[in-house]
Formats: sequence, C-alpha cells, structure tokens
Amino acid sequence: MKPELRIGLIGTGYMGKAHCIAFQTASAVFPLSGTIVCEMVADINAELAAQKATEFGFKRSTGDWRELVNDPNIDLVDICAPNYLHREMALAAIAAGKHVYSEKPLALNASDALEMTEAAERAGVKTLVGFNYTKNPTIQLAKQIIERGEIGEVVHFRGTFNEDYLADSQTPFSWRLKREFSGAGTLGDMGSHIINIAQHLVAPIEQLCADLQTVHKQRPIADTDGETGRVENDDQVHMMVRFNNGAIGTLESSRIAWGRKNGLWFEINGTRGTLIFDQQRLSELQLYTATDASNRQGFRTILTGPEHPDYQHFCVSAGHGIGYNDMKAVEVRDLVEGIFNQTPIWPDFRAAYEVNKVMDAVELSHRQGSWITL
Ligand SMILES: NC(=O)c1ccc[n+]([C@@H]2O[C@H](COP(=O)([O-])OP(=O)(O)OC[C@H]3O[C@@H](n4cnc5c(N)ncnc54)[C@H](O)[C@@H]3O)[C@@H](O)[C@H]2O)c1
Repeated sequence: MKPELRIGLIGTGYMGKAHCIAFQTASAVFPLSGTIVCEMVADINAELAAQKATEFGFKRSTGDWRELVNDPNIDLVDICAPNYLHREMALAAIAAGKHVYSEKPLALNASDALEMTEAAERAGVKTLVGFNYTKNPTIQLAKQIIERGEIGEVVHFRGTFNEDYLADSQTPFSWRLKREFSGAGTLGDMGSHIINIAQHLVAPIEQLCADLQTVHKQRPIADTDGETGRVENDDQVHMMVRFNNGAIGTLESSRIAWGRKNGLWFEINGTRGTLIFDQQRLSELQLYTATDASNRQGFRTILTGPEHPDYQHFCVSAGHGIGYNDMKAVEVRDLVEGIFNQTPIWPDFRAAYEVNKVMDAVELSHRQGSWITL
C-alpha cells in the first residue's frame, strides 16, 4: 500500500484552483511515491467552501480554516489565501504538526518570514513556497547550461516581471493594494518571482539600490457610489543588484505595463555566451555561445522536449509545449516526493525568507535613497 498525503486547501480563488489542477495533474503525470488525497477545502464561508469542494473534487469542506488546520485527517495545509493570512495560517498548521505548502510571497515582511521558517524547522515539518516558474523544464535547462559552464562565468542578470492587470486606473480596488493585506505591491506580487529566479540561476543577492513608485494613487471601490480607495503600495519597482559571486544585474517589475500579460523575461550574460527566456514563449530558450565558428554565431532557439528535465512526463513529443499549470504540477511533485521520501524540498520557507529579505531591502533602499547591504 502506498502512503497517503491528505491535503487541506485554504482559499479557492485563482491559486486555489491552480493548486487543485496541480494535485490532479501531478497524480496523473508523475510516478509518485504515494497517493495525494484531496481531503478538505476551507474558504471564507461554508457555502462557498462546499461549492468549491464539489467543483474541485475534495471530500469535505468548512467555512473555518482553523477547523481544517486542526483536523486529524489532514497531513498538509495548502495556503492559497491573501498574503496577510499566510503567517497566521502557517504558524497554526505548524503547531498542529502539518506540512505547509504556501503561496508567495511567504510573508508581509522578512521578520514574519523568519518566524515562520524557524517554527517549521523546529517542528520538523516540510514546507514549499509557490515560486513555480523555476519548475519549468525550460528554466531547469537554463540552470543546467549555467552549471555546466556552457556560457562561462555569469556576469550579468537582466530580469523583468511586468503585467498590465492594474494599468487601467479605473480597475477597482482589491486586497492587493492595501499594505495590511498585501504588504508590498508589484514588488511582492511579481517582483518576488524574478528575485527568486535571479537567486536560483545566479547567486544570493548581496547589495542593492532600488526605487519604487505608485502611479495610480486612488482607485474606485466596486459597488459603491463613486467611492475611491488609496493605493498603499508600489505599481512599479526597479533595482540594481550585486550578487555574492561578483555578477551584477537589474531587476524590475510593474503591474501597470500596458501590453505585458505575463512579461517574465530575463537575459543572462556569461563570459562565453548568453541565455534569454520569455515566459510568453515558455517552451523556448535562446542560447548564444561564443565557441561557435565566427561565421556561424547567432542565437539558436532550443524548443524543450523529452530530453529536457521533467518534460517527458507530460509528453513524448518534442516542441509540443507545456503550460503554466504544468509548472505547478512539477512543484507539487517536488513537494510530495520530499514529504514521502523525507528529502529536501526547494524552495522551502528558508528560501522564501531570502526573497522577503531582498524585498525589505528594496523598500529600505527606496526610503533612504541609498545602496543597502543585505
Ligand atoms: N505563484 C503564482 O504564480 C501566484 C499567482 C497569483 C497569486 N499568487 C498568490 O496566491 C495567493 C492568493 O492569491 P489569489 O490570486 O488566488 O487570490 P484570490 O483573491 O483569487 O483568492 C483568495 C482566496 O482566499 C479566500 N480567503 C480570503 N480570506 C480567507 C479566510 N479568512 N479564510 C479562508 N479563505 C479566505 C478567498 O475567499 C479566495 O477564495 C496570494 O498570496 C498571491 O500572492 C501566486
């Protein structure tokens, strides 16, 4: 009999659904060491939770997340609620001895993230934070190319994560715009992903100098007679960074960049070549190597296929492509295999704490108008 991992999912919005798809896909796609059981769903009220449990194929539901966290038949608490709830929910889950899968950013600030990290490490529970983009076979391939020295020593990382979901100044107010619910703005929402990718592919960030800006300072509140709410966090952010291996870089994020739908893009320059990735063409990696004959030099497009990490589990044919939800399935595979086999999981709470530390340094740099050493 294979062991079971019984999931308790909190929050059934955008990410709750993505996690639910990932639990089902990972079970179908990967040869897992155990069985994922979709046990219980929690949301803000019992009616919504019951409706989503039926839609998502979970056995039970509750309108009180604490009931889920303390349920003896839950092994893993999956937090897909707004950012400000991550800390309270994770600490309660850890206290109840559960493994925790949390969406990013892990916490509103680095000190909360550290508290959560230390609590999980003391309790010996497994954790994973949803920085899903590094799970893409294409980015896994980029990592291999860098580690094998195929572009030489990395000297520069140029990365963006820009979208236009708040580019219209009339898009209504939401929890993402209030500090108490979201913490940072685009810095935490999308900037956290590009920070995590840079740390993963290059090295830890050692120093930075950053600027933040809120462009649309008031937004209409939905279903009111013209009331507006004050936007309390950043619409756009950029930073210069120095990595601890000597490389430097620039990272930026915007939620008001018209035309950018999932503008996660990076270019990595090494001493012997360059890599370019664009999430809107997520199965392609551009590689330039200076070792090619001088009359044949140029970027070549590598289309991912079964020879690249994890792709073969989804499809036996090259170039057919995988999607956003498939990256989440790889993430779930990493999570559950780490739990079933008691092996390390990445990115865990400690890795996510490193992202929160960079985010805090970005805000401090903006306030002080100076370089910050982490
Ligand atoms: N990894 C990614 O690519 C990615 C993408 C989007 C969002 N996220 C993260 O996922 C998290 C959720 O974002 P979302 O876009 O799914 O938000 P959302 O607003 O679509 O969904 C949030 C859900 O949480 C529920 N909720 C709110 N308060 C609750 C409470 N007290 N108890 C139980 N449920 C509660 C809401 O009813 C809703 O179902 C955020 O931390 C966000 O940063 C990650």
